[in-house]
Amino acid sequence: MPPRLGPGAVPGRMTAGITDHKIDRLVHLLVKNATVVAPGPKIASEIGVSRSTVWEWIEKLRALGVAIKGHPRHGYQLEKLPDILVPSLVRAELSHGEIGHKIVHYFRTESTNSAALQLDAQNGPHGTVIIAEEQTAGRGRLGRNWYSEKSKGIYTSIILRPPLSPAAAPILTLLAGVAARHAVRSATGLEADIRWPNDLLVNGKKVCGILTEMKAEVDRLHMVVLGIGINVNHSSMPEELQEIATSLALEGGRSYSRLQILAELLRDVERYYQMFLQEGNAAIVREWSAASSYAQGKRVHVKAGGSDYSGVTAGLDVSGALKILRDDGRQELLVAGEITELR
Ligand code: BTN
Repeated sequence: MPPRLGPGAVPGRMTAGITDHKIDRLVHLLVKNATVVAPGPKIASEIGVSRSTVWEWIEKLRALGVAIKGHPRHGYQLEKLPDILVPSLVRAELSHGEIGHKIVHYFRTESTNSAALQLDAQNGPHGTVIIAEEQTAGRGRLGRNWYSEKSKGIYTSIILRPPLSPAAAPILTLLAGVAARHAVRSATGLEADIRWPNDLLVNGKKVCGILTEMKAEVDRLHMVVLGIGINVNHSSMPEELQEIATSLALEGGRSYSRLQILAELLRDVERYYQMFLQEGNAAIVREWSAASSYAQGKRVHVKAGGSDYSGVTAGLDVSGALKILRDDGRQELLVAGEITELR
């Protein structure tokens, strides 16, 4: 993606560093008591902070778009359910699987992938999910930036520590694309195509990108980070992206619950990951091939490893590499790189 635009600054303690679990409890409490006015002193004593801290946090949640009504002398009440991705709300949507038993939330961080890569095995065990409302240096594939507007998109990274060799990483990348496509369809009804390896396109424009990074030795994966960015409620894209990128809201003509899409995404990553463990690569190759118009017979331009050529796609091999029949008659097996459709 072309360079990111400057994110809006949100001052205050709760925007820097991992979200205080007491703010998570505050949001949870407001949601649980959505039909009544919750008195400030009661909230303060339940979460163990002062009344002035409650007031300060309510103000900051409002600045992030959470609609909270203040009743003089009576307390606080949500005006509508908040679309904020704090751990307690996300976890309530998940069953007890491997993905999401631990959730780390940031109001603002540089990049959820960078945050994930900094975690060791103890602090970021298999299945940990990192979420940010905003990224100040979101990273994309091929060294690009990822535009990460505050509270509009889903910016999440999932840590996997599978007992596999680094050769498995490409198939996990495809798995994430298949899961994201399914999640978008279930939560919004919008049909997305998958451009190899895992860009989601709606009406030909990108709505979701996935950056897979790993820490590994020659024969052992220590950690795979599936970094997933979905443009959800952006009312416009920056000018330099408008030709190639869009949001679900722009395509669907309405806004969507980020919480619902994220919950679907985490459940789908869980489901496809279990499918992969039980059935192996073939299951993911099958699902991806059924979901993508790029799998077979698509005329494409390829940029990979410093070379540039045109050809037609001819299916995935069992590792997830894309076969290309080049116009000059040669065959290529694409393991990394970028393809664009030729019309
Ligand atoms: C792409 O270029 O298509 C991949 C974009 C990946 C963006 C996501 S947003 C969450 C995670 N954190 C990052 O810094 N990048 C990924």
